[in-house]
Amino acid sequence: MEKFNLKLLYSEEEINRRVREMAWQISSDYNGRNPLCIGILKGVFIFMADLVRNLAWPVQIDFVRLASYGSATESCGLINITKDVELPVTGKDILIVEDIVDTGLSLNFLKQRLLQAAPASLRICVLIDKWGRREQEVGLDYVGFSLGKGFLVGYGLDCAEKFRTLPAIYEVEE
Ligand code: PRP
Repeated sequence: MEKFNLKLLYSEEEINRRVREMAWQISSDYNGRNPLCIGILKGVFIFMADLVRNLAWPVQIDFVRLASYGSATESCGLINITKDVELPVTGKDILIVEDIVDTGLSLNFLKQRLLQAAPASLRICVLIDKWGRREQEVGLDYVGFSLGKGFLVGYGLDCAEKFRTLPAIYEVEE
């Protein structure tokens, strides 16, 4: 049985506080408009649930699921969509919600795809900007935490489907 050593990175309290701050900023910026929040499954499910419940106005919710080709840790840059948005995007204010951005390939793929449907606006909200391995620059409008590297788990993030339900975020130590 493989052993994992987990080091606490962001506590439950820190995450809750930061998510509330982000929700306050988003509510203030959208000023009564009701964006369509599109989450990228599966890692985003806990962050998105907490974020939208802290917004000052109701929003519409949809999800996509992306698949990247390659090994678990190294992508070869090809992204495919395995579950598309179901609600109309054209003319809507779109807020993409993502748990973590690493190479930027997933977010760029989804952004370009959604822009083809001519939304009224498109912004991106990520809980964690892991910038050290960025291959494609992607404009991030709302960022919870920023760090260079690390294999993170918890609060929706997994390692081979383990640790998603932990309430805090941990770094898997070598
Ligand atoms: C993770 C994360 C992002 C993506 C970021 O998803 O949730 O969607 O990788 O990587 P990138 O910036 O290099 O494209 P993952 O493929 O692990 O799937 P999951 O959300 O279902 O765990």
